[in-house]
This record gives sequence, C-alpha cells and structure tokens, in this order.
Amino acid sequence: MKKGERVVVRGLRDVAAAETKISFVEPKGELYYLGYNIDDLVGKVVYPEVAYLLIHKRLPNQQELEEFNANLIAEMKLPDRMIDSIRATPKRCHPMDVLRTEVSRLGECDPENNDLSEAANLRRATRLIARVPTIVATIYRIRLDKPVLAPREEYSFTENFLYMFKGSPPEKAETDVLHRLMILQADHGFNASTFAARVTASTNSDMYSAITSAIGTLKGPLHGGAGEKVMEMLDDIGLEEHVEEYIKGLLDENKKIMGFGHRVYKAEDPRTKHLRGIVRNLCFRDRTTSLCNKCNKIEEIVHDRKKIYPNLDFYAAVAMDALDVPKEFFTPLFASSRVSGWTAHVIEQYEDAVLLRPSSKYIGAFDRKFVPIEKR
Ligand code: COA
Repeated sequence: MKKGERVVVRGLRDVAAAETKISFVEPKGELYYLGYNIDDLVGKVVYPEVAYLLIHKRLPNQQELEEFNANLIAEMKLPDRMIDSIRATPKRCHPMDVLRTEVSRLGECDPENNDLSEAANLRRATRLIARVPTIVATIYRIRLDKPVLAPREEYSFTENFLYMFKGSPPEKAETDVLHRLMILQADHGFNASTFAARVTASTNSDMYSAITSAIGTLKGPLHGGAGEKVMEMLDDIGLEEHVEEYIKGLLDENKKIMGFGHRVYKAEDPRTKHLRGIVRNLCFRDRTTSLCNKCNKIEEIVHDRKKIYPNLDFYAAVAMDALDVPKEFFTPLFASSRVSGWTAHVIEQYEDAVLLRPSSKYIGAFDRKFVPIEKR
C-alpha cells in the first residue's frame, strides 16, 4: 500500500462504528428505543419511563418508576456553589456555553468520583438526567433576575422541570407536551453528540467528561442548534404571506433551510408526525397556529424543490415556543432530554470496552527539508 493510503468515508456516512442495543434509526422512517417503536411510547408513557428504559435497558414497573421519579427529584437540587457559578457568568454568554461548563463542574461535585462500578454509573446517570434540566432552569431564572427554585415533592420530575423553569405551577396540558417532546428527543442512534460522548467514554474517561463533550457537539447548528435557527427563520419571515418568497429566495441561493434534511432518514422523520400532532392538537395559542401555518407552507415548498423532509428540530422549535421557552434555550432543553440517551450510550460504551480511534488518510507532504529557526 502506498504510504498514507487509506479509504476515507467522508463524514463517516453509513459507517457502523459499534454495536448498540439502545436505539435504531431505520432510514425508511422508523425509530426504536430498546426495541420499542417510538409510536408505541409517545403519549402512552411519561418521560422518566423512557429515561429508565434507556439506562436500565428495560421498562420499569410501577414501583420502580415511582422510585426512579423520587430519585430524580431528590437529585434535582444543585450545590450552592454551582448556583453561585451560574450567577457569576456574563448574561451575554449563550446558555449552551454555561450548561457545558456547569455539567463539567458537576464532575467536581460527584460524591463518589472514584467509584466506576456499574451501580455507581447508574446513579451518576440518574444524577445527570436530573441535574441537566435543573442547570438549564437555573440559568434561565438567573437571567431573568428571578429566584432560583427548589424542586417540590408534590410535583413529578417533569412537572418540577416546568415549575423550576417558569416559576408557576405546572399545567397539565404543558406537562403533556413536555413529556412527549422529551421522549422524542431522548435518543437517536449514533448521532454526532452521542458519538462524541462515546468517544470520550471509550478512553475510560468519566461520565461527566463524556456528557460535556456531547453538549459541545449538540450546540452546533447542523445538530441540536438547528431548532434555534428554525425559530430565527420563522420570526424573520414575519407574515405567512412572505413564506414563499423567503424560502424560495434561500433555495435559489443554495442556502440550507434549517430543520430540514437528515443524514439517515430517506423518508419522513418518524418524530415529525408526533410533533405536528403536538403543536396542532395540544398547543392552543394564536402564535402557535400562525407558526404552524408557516411551517406547513415551508414543508411544501422545500419538499417540492429538494425532496427533503423536516427533521426533529423543525416542529420541536414550535412546540418549545408554545411552552414559552425562548429560542436560545431550545438547545439546552434538547440537552435536558438527550442526556438520558447520552448516559445510556456511555454505559454501553464502558461495557463494550474498546477504544474508538479511527485512522485518517494523510495527504500532506513527506521528506520536507528541515530548516533551523534562525534560517527560516
Ligand atoms: N436545506 C436545503 N437543502 C438541503 C438541506 C437543507 N436543510 N439538507 C440537505 N440538503 C440537500 C443538500 O444540499 C444536498 O443536495 P445536493 O445533493 O443537491 O447537493 C442533499 O440535500 C443531501 O444533503 P447533505 O448535505 O449531503 O446531507 P448530510 O447528510 O451531509 O447533512 C444535515 C445532513 C442534517 C447536516 C443537513 O441536512 C443539514 O444541514 N440540515 C440543516 C440543519 C439541521 O436541520 N440540522 C438538524 C439535523 S437533525
């Protein structure tokens, strides 16, 4: 073989980097969590059931679910020094930057840092699933100069997330929307952020380091950051009658329409029908109706021209807007759900016990003549 010669699979497209039992993304438009079609979960189970399923690899019974919910609530409260640290962060920083730093800081606060047993890792996963939402709620409350709230025993984990974020008692309709949204965002095969988490875990580094890697990766607009860009676009379009001109203009300039396209799906993303249903049937605001109408038009135009479909982030942006979440908090909210998938994959990666370390094709020079610094 010629020196440096390798076969490059650009973007690792269709490369299977490991085996997994956690989720399956079927290009024809299906998504399975541990063998369950998401269509059989959304609207039928609550988010903590799915989080439990992902990290324990089986659905909980009633008692196990109650215990898990209680453990999550018990873990939600943040150490005071983390609240102080969030307070000290300049408000101009993107919430994802603050989240990334504070998840890293969680590692410093781990009470069992040297215990890498399976049981300790499950406890750590539960702690992360509980605390990522709390960090997000805390960043939001501090930005609004509002008091940081502690979780309340009378609320479930998901209700507490809403309560600690918004500061008002959680409403049933909103809690229903949040359960569905968090289930749909919980896992998705070897997506970029999950892969980043697994690469970090594959070096036998700790779970906090792996989740910090994942958060930095989710932030990008080609991945989880797309939702914020979707809402920027919807706001920028303004009135519904401007949709056609705006979108055709972007397509004419070969620009990407955020919230469209997918690396794996060749048909409609199976999460889209659920999200369309959520924003159409469970959100009752005039603004949501108007955003939905714009989204429908955009879908038609983009499909007509490019034969591509909306991905998770398109209607998820509308659902989060309906929950009164400001757009810069869309990706943090996504991270608050995806952390259950990330931690499940980190545990699976520890079990697989193999270093993820690809090679590369070197296309640089050989045999360059070295010149000492004083002669350069
Ligand atoms: N808007 C317009 N055209 C798009 C598009 C989009 N959002 N996404 C893909 N395409 C087009 C590409 O231009 C390309 O067309 P061509 O074959 O005529 O050149 C074709 O569809 C294939 O796209 P490609 O970029 O090869 O797909 P990919 O697998 O590398 O990228 C994404 C996948 C998700 C990164 C890409 O679709 C994208 O950037 N989407 C917008 C960001 C987004 O919503 N991200 C969230 C992902 S869940």
